[in-house]
Amino acid sequence: LLLALTVVLTSGCGVIGGKIASTSDPAGDQARLIWDLFITPVWWLVIFVFVLVTGWILINIVRFRRQPGDTRIPPQVHGNQRLEIAWTLIPAIILALIAVPSTRLIFELNRDPGPGSNALRAQVIGHQWWWEFRYPEYGIVTAGDLHLVVGRPVVLTITSHDVIHSFWPPRLAGKVDAVPGRAHTMVFTPEETGVFYGQCAELCGAQHAHMQFRVVVQTQEEFDAWVAKLRRPIPEPPAGSLAATGQQLFAGKAGCAGCHQVSPTYDPVTPINKTLAVGPNLAYIGERHVLAAFTDNTPEELHRWIASTCDVKPYSIMCEKWWRIRAEQNTLLTTEEVDAIVAYMLSLQ
Ligand code: CUA
Repeated sequence: LLLALTVVLTSGCGVIGGKIASTSDPAGDQARLIWDLFITPVWWLVIFVFVLVTGWILINIVRFRRQPGDTRIPPQVHGNQRLEIAWTLIPAIILALIAVPSTRLIFELNRDPGPGSNALRAQVIGHQWWWEFRYPEYGIVTAGDLHLVVGRPVVLTITSHDVIHSFWPPRLAGKVDAVPGRAHTMVFTPEETGVFYGQCAELCGAQHAHMQFRVVVQTQEEFDAWVAKLRRPIPEPPAGSLAATGQQLFAGKAGCAGCHQVSPTYDPVTPINKTLAVGPNLAYIGERHVLAAFTDNTPEELHRWIASTCDVKPYSIMCEKWWRIRAEQNTLLTTEEVDAIVAYMLSLQ
């Protein structure tokens, strides 16, 4: 029963935000190296020890069980030097067999290939509770979706704006902590195109579970087109449209612009520890896969997020410092106003 329960409980471990993100299905070189190490030697050694120990216990339970009418006391043994040396040495050898390749891999991973390589460079900044991504090489900034190139190594510089987070795209690479005041490096090469799921892997507050991201792995051409688009000024919505009304609300009465920028570019010399804005940059949010760092970016979810922020993500800054204050002041946006802002957000693509 216990075993069956364990299987049921751990079967959910490969799922992030309802999507499969299993470490057993690597799509990047680092994730593959880690998975291979886990299977050989760790997995087979663990199976060997499990079968040996449980098998030995079962055999002895059955063979030496008390027979009816048997009242003898078994021989009382105090210490056996040979046995004790054996059960100290054998586990030590097993642990060494695991430790040596693990330690070697730890030192091999996340080594910066240096300025001579063709590696893509990006910065990852953890915030409670969302991820900011900057590309200093291009002077562009985004949030939620990290764009990478298939077959091209990426060097990520990872830090945090507030508390300790951990950046983890399970199918692509291991975990690297995002620590305020420190810059950690993660290096890997994505091996497949597609959208991959990621999760903050360090308990960082009330919405830790809702601190996800997506990694969009593209061909070099698709990535170049994406960069070129983000480097151009974002187009204005047509005059008189619902989106134009939304833009006015965004910049004025609704107060969105107090925390969110909609310009995709920033000054690339800005240090990684200098905050660009309180909230995520919303340039081209209409194209992103993830909204509010956990839910699918659909018009319905976007509407729900703006209209009832504290139901969608309680304790978030947008809930506590915007929605709740407006609710207390009785200045929440009307459904029409939310519709207009949603239209403006969707026009950003
Ligand atoms: Cu950020 Cu958990």
